[in-house]
Amino acid sequence: MNDLFLRAARGADTDRAPVWLMRQAGRHLPEYRELKRKHSFWQLARTPELAAEVTLQPVRRYGMDAAILFQDIMTPLPAMGAEVAFTPGPTLERPIRSDADLATLRVPQQDEIAPFVAEAIRLLRRELEVPLIGFAGAPLTLATYLVEGAGSKEYPTFRGLLRARPDLAHALLELLTETSIRYARAQVAAGAQAFQLFDSWAGLHDEATYRTFGQPYARRVLQALGGDGAGPSSVPRLYIAVGAGHLLDAFAELPIEVLSLDWRTPLDTSRRRLAGRVPALQGNLDPADLLGPAGTVREATLRVLRAGLGGAHLFNLGHGMLPQVDPARVEELVDTVRGFGRRSGDAEARA
Ligand code: CP3
Repeated sequence: MNDLFLRAARGADTDRAPVWLMRQAGRHLPEYRELKRKHSFWQLARTPELAAEVTLQPVRRYGMDAAILFQDIMTPLPAMGAEVAFTPGPTLERPIRSDADLATLRVPQQDEIAPFVAEAIRLLRRELEVPLIGFAGAPLTLATYLVEGAGSKEYPTFRGLLRARPDLAHALLELLTETSIRYARAQVAAGAQAFQLFDSWAGLHDEATYRTFGQPYARRVLQALGGDGAGPSSVPRLYIAVGAGHLLDAFAELPIEVLSLDWRTPLDTSRRRLAGRVPALQGNLDPADLLGPAGTVREATLRVLRAGLGGAHLFNLGHGMLPQVDPARVEELVDTVRGFGRRSGDAEARA
């Protein structure tokens, strides 16, 4: 069993950085597009054998140090009463904008939320020789989609609702938090060995708004994996927001083992500013760096590796992989990370 990822996620300053990539499974892989010709996204996600196969594809091809379960942050929403279509981004049949809309939602029992996820996790644990990461969307980010109804640049409907109907927003966040706690616990009970909370759109908000509508709910989901909330977590907990360098101090208060940063928030200066409050950092290659010509990925990857020195570092992108990426560029990235010794004196890879 390759436990490099788990050791770094617990704060060990490992000899080399573990590598996995957000959206490592999916549209950039020809073998995924092949399956997508025959099955919809929901069919892939809801059929445990297919979800397990798609999870394994990038691990086989690239030799990643961790697998991330193939699902979406929207996976638990249908069991709450919210139908989601992928076009290819998530679209809500009935967005949640009124008390009557909210009344159509419920908190499902733990084993009702997504039984196919627990089954996929059990299948994967029999196959994998690297750790399996489970994940969920943070309540704030899920609420963003539920209210807006689809992806958007500014999310005006959602940000307006936070001001016009804070009571409704909090009631929705409460339902999402309870559901997410059960969903996260179900994944860990089935065998997920780490858990990443995606708060992709937290960075839209100023710090006060994030502290009101984001942080308290994210904290509850993360704490639920730590037994009664006081003890150490049974699995390392990773948290990511995008475009959120201004929220670093609020993130440092979350019960997490790993904070994932995007490419606009440098690893070295953030590590100094966090001053030991978070055990490990993850990130943060710009996903666009994988779109350059052959040979250019190595230099960009080395810059991130050097900035990650001085404490535990898990190599990743700053956000999800873009579908246009040529798998040869991902191989260049993975080779570079594997060849980079993190001990001082290993000057060759650093030059
Ligand atoms: O490999 C992996 O990382 C695991 C799979 C995974 C998917 N979605 C599969 C997917 C993960 C971790 C997610 C998380 C997710 N989904 C997030 C958080 C991470 C982030 O990017 O901020 C968010 C915001 C979503 C919402 C979502 N789902 C979007 C915006 C889209 C469409 C555009 C896109 O980036 O692909 C989806 C659909 C989706 N989720 C696809 C995949 C492989 C594409 C569906 C298809 O194959 O047509």
